[in-house]
Amino acid sequence: MPLVSSKDVLQQARAEGYAVGAFNVFNMESVKAVIAAAERERSPVLIQVWSGLDSFVGLDVLAAIVRCEAEKASVPVVLHLDHGMNAEHAAKGIKNGFTSIMIDGSSLPLEENISVTKEVARIAHAVGIPVEGEIGHVGGEEGGDHQEADDMVETSVEEAVAFYERSGVDTLAVSIGTSHGKYKQEPKLNIGLLRDIAARIPIPLVLHGSSYTPDEMIREVIRYGIAKINVATEMNDAVIAQTTKDITQGLQAKYASDLTYGAYALMADKVGQKMRLFGSSGKA
Ligand code: 13P
Repeated sequence: MPLVSSKDVLQQARAEGYAVGAFNVFNMESVKAVIAAAERERSPVLIQVWSGLDSFVGLDVLAAIVRCEAEKASVPVVLHLDHGMNAEHAAKGIKNGFTSIMIDGSSLPLEENISVTKEVARIAHAVGIPVEGEIGHVGGEEGGDHQEADDMVETSVEEAVAFYERSGVDTLAVSIGTSHGKYKQEPKLNIGLLRDIAARIPIPLVLHGSSYTPDEMIREVIRYGIAKINVATEMNDAVIAQTTKDITQGLQAKYASDLTYGAYALMADKVGQKMRLFGSSGKA
């Protein structure tokens, strides 16, 4: 079916108390793996592209692959721009057919974050595209090693309410203790904070930096309003580990694509596990 907007998919998730996975893709194989998992699980899915990939793969290229695969799929697929850093990124996403846009002003002072997010929401809403903003700052770096806590800023409830009321966002990423990349030690999530935010902000809340966060913590945050869960590093690590294992064990490849076939089959399995954990299986 044609790509769908994230708005209905995520509003339904928050209303019904489950979350939809947003999986980062980086090539054709990863797109196919995520969509294969969604079909198997009968789950809606967000496929997200980090804005930084524009300079070496191209937002246009990845968008074309996702659109083509989504049209053949029988489950709803959203094409989401992950961490758009400015209005130009957002405009490029919209031009290339993304059906959901993140503008990440979380490193800016509150007023500047509100101002850039409001401007992107105005442009995106004019063409019917929903927008995710971030308040507080989820630290670390996708794929990164152990840098997590250094640049993290926990969300304040009062700032989150002001941001929600003034920016016009459709979904809101909050910083409650996860971080992008790997953890040095198990994360401590501030569930009380999440509960206070969710009590005052009715839109779907977003968890960034979900890789390697223990399953019981994920179940708990979903109970308190998290309806979109971003996953990147865990899938990237699985593809690297399986490819390395297959090659060192003497995999006989006739075609170059044989080298990574097993790795992307594993990625699809892992995406399916996350969909079952998030409660989105069977919701498509
Ligand atoms: P992880 O790499 O920790 O899964 O975080 C992904 C993410 O939040 C993308 O925006």
